[in-house]
Amino acid sequence: MSAFASERVLSVHHWNDTLFSFKTTRDPALRFENGQFVMIGLMVNGKPLMRAYSIASPNYEEHLEFFSIKVQNGPLTSILQKIQVGDELLVSRKPTGTLVLSDLKPGRNLYYFATGTGLAPFMSLIQDPEAYEKFEKIVLFHGVRTVSELAYADFIENQLPNNEFFGEEVRNKLIYYPSVTREPFRNQGRLTELIESGRLFSDIGLPPLNPETDRAMLCGSPAMLDDTCALLDARGFQVSKRIGMPGDYVIERAFVEK
Ligand code: A2P
Repeated sequence: MSAFASERVLSVHHWNDTLFSFKTTRDPALRFENGQFVMIGLMVNGKPLMRAYSIASPNYEEHLEFFSIKVQNGPLTSILQKIQVGDELLVSRKPTGTLVLSDLKPGRNLYYFATGTGLAPFMSLIQDPEAYEKFEKIVLFHGVRTVSELAYADFIENQLPNNEFFGEEVRNKLIYYPSVTREPFRNQGRLTELIESGRLFSDIGLPPLNPETDRAMLCGSPAMLDDTCALLDARGFQVSKRIGMPGDYVIERAFVEK
């Protein structure tokens, strides 16, 4: 059996000039934990050109969804951004990744800290009923440069709270905090600034970060991860050292060299 399944594109949505999402068919044999990633790609000059992509859809959906940037000279995304419904896409058969609920110790509040396309794994996780069973509050922070980069905002704010199975849990527990750094918006500033100033916590009505009660998952650029890890470490949080060894927080790079 080939290492890759060939899937068909079911829909494509362009958010703006730099971001798009697409849905594909899913091999029924593909099993994954919400928050994990797979390799996806295309045949280019007779060879598979593959990159890591977090799965943005939850693991009970029949299709797969991915969220991508468009890099003009990117080897894969310069081609991938032109995909159309019906096109074929390669998807690896072995999902993996560190952003899994099973690698967090029990806690009260769960923070999903994302910047840019680092939102993708959290789109899967905010649709995971288990997270709502395990935590009292779930905070989704999405930091972007411009308002048009706030992909999925309408889904998170207007559709998810009406989910027929766990909409009530979402309404009671999920706090969505989008923040924009380079345009006016209701919330402004980088994640790190909003943590340090305490603004994030006063805005959402929760106490400042505390390793006794809080857990976190981080996905963003290497700089965002470095700076946010430093803030968490300084507050006494312990990172999960490897898959299968639970910690106070887990991290994954948003895969951007595409
Ligand atoms: P800024 O506009 O101040 O650079 P990017 O698209 O570069 O990944 O950025 C996505 C968001 O992450 C932007 O709002 C950006 O803010 C912010 N950001 C960039 N670097 C960091 C960092 N080291 N810590 C926290 N946020 C960051």
